[in-house]
Amino acid sequence: MQTVYARTLQLDDGLIAPYGGKLVQAFVPVHEKHEMLQRIEHMQRVEISAGELVELKMIACGAYSPLTGFMDQHTYKSVLDATKLTDGMSWGLPVTLGVTAEVAKSVNEGLEIALFRNDEAVGVMQVTDIFAWDAAREASVFGEGVKYKYPQITERKQRKVEYLLGGPVSMLTSRTDEVQRIKNIWPHDLRNLIIEKGWHNLAAIHLRNPWQRTDEYMLKSALEGSDAILLHMCNEVTPEKGGLLPSVLSGARRLLLENYFPNDRVLENPMPDGLFGSSPRAALQHAILSQNYGCASIYFPLSNEVDVTVHDFWEVFADTAKSGLRIRRVVMDIPFHCTLCGGIATVKSCPHEAEHHVIYSEADIVGRLLLGENLPPTVARPDIARAVARGMADKAVRGDAQGTHLYPHVSEISREVLESMAGHKAGVLWMTGLSGSGKSTIAHRIERELVLSGHRVYVLDGDTLRTGLNRDLAFGDEARRENLRRAAEVVKVLIDAGLIVIASFISPFTAEREMVREIVGANFFEVYVEANIETCEERDPKGLYKRARAGVIPKFTGISSPYEAPEHPDLRLNTSIQTLEECVKQFSDFIAQAGLMRASKHVRISDGLAGKNIA
Ligand code: ADX
Repeated sequence: MQTVYARTLQLDDGLIAPYGGKLVQAFVPVHEKHEMLQRIEHMQRVEISAGELVELKMIACGAYSPLTGFMDQHTYKSVLDATKLTDGMSWGLPVTLGVTAEVAKSVNEGLEIALFRNDEAVGVMQVTDIFAWDAAREASVFGEGVKYKYPQITERKQRKVEYLLGGPVSMLTSRTDEVQRIKNIWPHDLRNLIIEKGWHNLAAIHLRNPWQRTDEYMLKSALEGSDAILLHMCNEVTPEKGGLLPSVLSGARRLLLENYFPNDRVLENPMPDGLFGSSPRAALQHAILSQNYGCASIYFPLSNEVDVTVHDFWEVFADTAKSGLRIRRVVMDIPFHCTLCGGIATVKSCPHEAEHHVIYSEADIVGRLLLGENLPPTVARPDIARAVARGMADKAVRGDAQGTHLYPHVSEISREVLESMAGHKAGVLWMTGLSGSGKSTIAHRIERELVLSGHRVYVLDGDTLRTGLNRDLAFGDEARRENLRRAAEVVKVLIDAGLIVIASFISPFTAEREMVREIVGANFFEVYVEANIETCEERDPKGLYKRARAGVIPKFTGISSPYEAPEHPDLRLNTSIQTLEECVKQFSDFIAQAGLMRASKHVRISDGLAGKNIA
């Protein structure tokens, strides 16, 4: 029985030919798997890294055709020095298996070894070469000192790798969680799908983890020029750099792809980490494997994170026609938001000066998120920005930082979807003012008006909340703060459900109102319901002022506890001098102007209230 099953498929599918002409298939056949597992019992075991497992899979499924195994020394040096395999075919990146000195000592050339990942057999390899890992040489090509980062170097140093093993491999199709999680598409399957769908131009694009407006622009531009997109993105096993949690970003990517792209036109294909970093060598590698996948073209988005020019890109492709690299290459310039165009563009499509171009670096974005700021809608769609901000905040405030290990889920139905179904946006009108100023009366009139004209509305009121959720809280400064914090969290939930919330709380202190604004995020509007204390005391609808004056109610706002009036509310209603009808009209006009009102069915019903005063 043989150990290594590197077979090649001569394809006659009419699609672009695999690199080198044939597609490599290096899986252990199913009917021999059992016997192979028995033989593996007697083989030397070598544990491989997460990245190497993905590389093994890429070799086995033919994505790296014509490679049939991990590179030997000759090939490795040739790739590093000349960007070529030993037969002269262009090749971008080394594909190697790293081991410690101890492991290297325990194997000989010619030996069959078993490759293990987390104690599970994932493949076999015939060792044909054992040679020193040239970390310094790799670092000079990919390392920190030069423009392009190659994460594998750091990871290998941590594992104390000193040697590389070369030789052909076969993979055991494994059902482990880790292998399953990296859901690579296999070239042979994809080629069949292309034929089945009748596509003429499947375009590959590589984007580490698309979720921003600029990513969407790149994806959509590529999609407009093709039938579908093969999205080479980062495999999620390794955490993202720069402090953004991979789980948060993959959630954001899912929102973008599921809500803003037709579901059968973007095929996600996770790639090994080492392929990212926008280096021209990585681009060459992506082009080779995309051709193996049957893609007719590949798009390379330039990035503002790495200083690579279009010239750098073309240089690495100079020799590739001879090697049979036929895939069409398209380099895309760095996208930005142009304030004059009012959208995303590149220097190719925008005629305006650079001063109108806004580019956010990853560091800017992470910095904003860590400060708890919202991302501008020009960076990401509001629903996606919220999901990312919330994910980051939860991590910082409640997650690992406090050891509670909470990882809240991001809903698959975005708020924008809920809003478009309701026909209006969600948000909160936060009414602040003295007891008796008229907050509740106005709130319920507005509620009636909005509900009858087809809006989804909820009135959240201090008195009501204090009889349930907040019944443990009194009126000291701390208790009021907690009262408002909880109220703000409830408002956030209601907004997430797509509602217009009319909140009515005395909320006497500026600092707490700011806290509420921060918790709620976008679409928070402060409405100051103004009435002088004399008017409120004269109205005294609940008899509270009388009791406060008598000393029965301590810390009563306006009497024995201060009220800090908002200096710059979004809307000011003065119920001492305006009628209820005037207040409701002004409020309702404001809601329309704030963009929360439905475009149609705006029926006004407040005419019947003419002349009535408050309370
Ligand atoms: S807040 O100050 O914490 O924002 P909230 O709006 O929830 O107050 O509750 C105010 C309501 O609680 C008032 O409408 C009133 O009916 C009742 N109340 C009872 N005691 C007080 C007090 N000491 N000060 C103000 N309102 C009080």
